[in-house]
Amino acid sequence: MCGIVGILGKGPVAGQLIDALKRLEYRGYDSAGIATLDHGQLARRRAEGKLQALAARLEKEPLAGNIGIGHTRWATHGRPTENNAHPHATDRVAVVHNGIIENFRELRERLIAQGAKFGSETDTEVVAHLVTAEMKQGKSPADAVAATLKQLRGAFALAFLFAGEDDLMIGARKGSPLAIGYGKDEMFLGSDAIALAPFTDTISYLEDGDWVVLTRTSAAIRDEQGAKIERAIVKSTATAQMVDKGNHKHFMAKEIHEQPEVVGHTLAHYIDMIGEKVALPEELPFDWRAIKRLSISACGTAFYAGLVAKYWFERFAKMPVEIDIASEFRYRGAPLEAGDLMICISQSGETADTLATLRYAREHKQHILSVVNVSTSTIARESDVVMPTLAGPEIGVASTKAFTCQKARDVLYLGRGTSFPIALEGALKLKEISYIHAEGYAAGELKHGPIALIDENIPVIVIAPYDRVFEKTVSNMQEVAARGGKIILVTDPKGAKEATIESLVTLTLPDMASTVTPLVYALPVQMIAYHTAAAIGTDVDQPRNLAKSVTVE
Ligand code: M6R
Repeated sequence: MCGIVGILGKGPVAGQLIDALKRLEYRGYDSAGIATLDHGQLARRRAEGKLQALAARLEKEPLAGNIGIGHTRWATHGRPTENNAHPHATDRVAVVHNGIIENFRELRERLIAQGAKFGSETDTEVVAHLVTAEMKQGKSPADAVAATLKQLRGAFALAFLFAGEDDLMIGARKGSPLAIGYGKDEMFLGSDAIALAPFTDTISYLEDGDWVVLTRTSAAIRDEQGAKIERAIVKSTATAQMVDKGNHKHFMAKEIHEQPEVVGHTLAHYIDMIGEKVALPEELPFDWRAIKRLSISACGTAFYAGLVAKYWFERFAKMPVEIDIASEFRYRGAPLEAGDLMICISQSGETADTLATLRYAREHKQHILSVVNVSTSTIARESDVVMPTLAGPEIGVASTKAFTCQKARDVLYLGRGTSFPIALEGALKLKEISYIHAEGYAAGELKHGPIALIDENIPVIVIAPYDRVFEKTVSNMQEVAARGGKIILVTDPKGAKEATIESLVTLTLPDMASTVTPLVYALPVQMIAYHTAAAIGTDVDQPRNLAKSVTVE
């Protein structure tokens, strides 16, 4: 969460910073800011709201300077106001930060006692004051940053800009991602390679604890102990083209419609269509037969995808599977056997809780397989085996048109078996983009509590392909109908025929093998959420309070 960028450029950098921030807006979009060096002096522009507010501000009040840093924020400490927007600065240093400084209170109190004046409610501002205090004691910028990093607890990617230093920028990484971009007599820092794609495809990724001193022609990396270290320089495949919406009104609509193609690509990658067998990576560093128990960890939608995988592994491979949301898994001290397998699922590959579970499994000497959409991400890089999904960049953070659930205050989603995760996903999607309260339940669980909510104002969306549990789900629909609930049934032709109760609307999908229903039935629930939100007029691609990449706990 939060996107950061730094540019040591050949010409004015303000426009380039905005361009890079546009690509990072998926990480947060409640406020934004940039700082440059204008004739050696630090100068800042910050604005509340989405990036376009900052761009408009810069049109009226341009910023000169060939070196600068930028930030797009997802608020953790302090409301999304201009004062709390990054960069935070003193007269000596400006800093942008992605992450959380956990010990900021004690640091802030100490700095205030020493006379520092704070202008924001953020955790980040302590970093600017700490570096300044170290420099006032005579330390060079690099030594001041090194001394500051030792005092910070928490997660961070940081970029520093110093007054009077037109050929110097420092970056540091612990927990949150940070990449160096190499140009010709130019150097860049960014939260990811996509941000830097218009400027360079030559990238190296800092490891946890690394920090780097950049000039336009050099990058000197040190590890947490201060030892000089080299990190591999790789060619990034991130596209320089700004991802666009095509003919769609929203990225979410485009991404829903892209699914047949990208799911097809991904399946083609893992299935040998001619040999009719699964084509897993050849060099697996473990033997499936030696795995006694499989653990799956993920957050949000990725967790629901993992839940589908649990049903499949248990049903088809007869393999015991434990699955938990990553923020619980990492702290509950689950006993894990050495040599077993942990599967981490993450679109971004940067989700802090999922990464922490990966590391927990690593400590327990487990094999790690990750399913990620960004193959250069930290989770991918720290896994033994990576199975990329080939979905392409996802930009949108999350009814059939004018659906009956519009404006309903509460909606229930029900499903059994692999349709249960789809019910959970439907409820999540509706909540996050339309702000309508929705809950997903295993249909059999309805009578254990949620049935109390049912009345004629509650739409109940039932995901029920005609499968071995269909009849059981029909019984649950009877229970809903008997209490006046309005049923919206998502099923197939046989299900539509056999469902013996009247639904308000029946969405009939084509017949398909039961193994693929979770993939296909995800689409109508996404469409329901999309059209509901579009009809209400919420910001579908950038819903309030959310960010695409969640790199804090
Ligand atoms: O990048 P990840 O897949 O690890 O992200 C996990 C969740 O943050 C994500 O799925 C979130 O729930 C989405 N907003 C759901 O649409």
